Amino acid sequence: MRILLDKFTKNFGDLTVIDEMDLEVHDGEMVALLGGSGCGKSTTLFAICGIHKVNGGRILFGDRDVTNITSQERNVGVVFQSFALYPHMDVAHNIGFPLKLRKETSTEIQRKVDEIAEMVHIGPLLKRRPGELSGGQQQRVALARALIRRPDVLLLDEPLANLDATLRLEMRSEIRRIQRETGITAVLVTHDQVEAMSMCDRIAIMDAGKILQITEPSDMYNNPVSDYVAGFLGSPPISFLTGIIQNGSFIEPATGAKIPVRKAIAGSHAGREVRVGIRPEYYQPDKGVMIKGTVSMIEAQGRETLYVVTLPDGNILRSIQGSHSPVKIGDAVNWGIDAEHMLVFDKDGLLI
Ligand SMILES: Nc1ncnc2c1ncn2[C@@H]1O[C@H](COP(=O)(O)OP(=O)(O)O)[C@@H](O)[C@H]1O
Ligand SMILES: [Mg+2]
Repeated sequence: MRILLDKFTKNFGDLTVIDEMDLEVHDGEMVALLGGSGCGKSTTLFAICGIHKVNGGRILFGDRDVTNITSQERNVGVVFQSFALYPHMDVAHNIGFPLKLRKETSTEIQRKVDEIAEMVHIGPLLKRRPGELSGGQQQRVALARALIRRPDVLLLDEPLANLDATLRLEMRSEIRRIQRETGITAVLVTHDQVEAMSMCDRIAIMDAGKILQITEPSDMYNNPVSDYVAGFLGSPPISFLTGIIQNGSFIEPATGAKIPVRKAIAGSHAGREVRVGIRPEYYQPDKGVMIKGTVSMIEAQGRETLYVVTLPDGNILRSIQGSHSPVKIGDAVNWGIDAEHMLVFDKDGLLI
């Protein structure tokens, strides 16, 4: 079921949290609302869910305008960070509860509970209470309860935030598997870029109540609309340097290095100040335009190692390397920037 937000606006008193947001989630698609704390992700999700009344604009499921109908009538499944299971009920009753409210027969409920429990892999746990389950198992129960009504839309608000790192990894692929198997249209709210990148078809990145960019994860990574978006995606993060465009190159101010830029940028921004972004995989010992600096930090990250190189003016470049580099902290290095992959932003931070 397609979800459409058309000029959706939400105020809390005098505070306008979302101002005329447009968003379309295609049928069967999973979209992440990604952004820092307080940017309006949950507010948007709650409006789609029907918990919040909107102050302007429309919300459509398919072609049906659901703006003014209740949450129950919207047929949505919701999973919150807190799981919100009923502690005194066993797992089967927790999952079947939405159907009981709908007054379905107990045989019918049992059949559906068994079916959904198999799908989310909690069949053997049906007689336990939530207190007897691990965090990951509780999360699966919450998912089962959200899905049992065969909702048109699945809404997930930071569903993995309370899980430890290993479980988070497992549940990331599990939620995606279940979303794909059911073909349900889903919106995932998260502040974790890795979660958004790995789980969703598209990411809508938000700041201060606005969607800055909505596109596929790899496209957002490679073609971010702004330095803000570029900085939000990628771990370790992109590094930024500020300098001037001159004679077809970005002049790195601390070392005087000249990094060629595309013809169009060289023309339109000659003599102007720009900000360039270099991802850690594009600053390497063996290729590109050499930049001298001093190794100031080395961090083993398992398969890869992160090196932080400080330039003479104190700015830093990060380098991520798959093979071990024989350098120590304090060593002078001369490593190269891959000019092809350098992102160039104008003084307002927009990608050129
Ligand atoms: N019920 C509410 N009453 C007043 N302000 C709220 C309420 N809910 C959220 N806000 C405010 O709206 C903004 C967005 O909140 P929220 O959507 O929860 O952000 P996010 O989920 O992105 O962290 C914040 O400034 C928050 O303080
Ligand atoms: Mg939130």
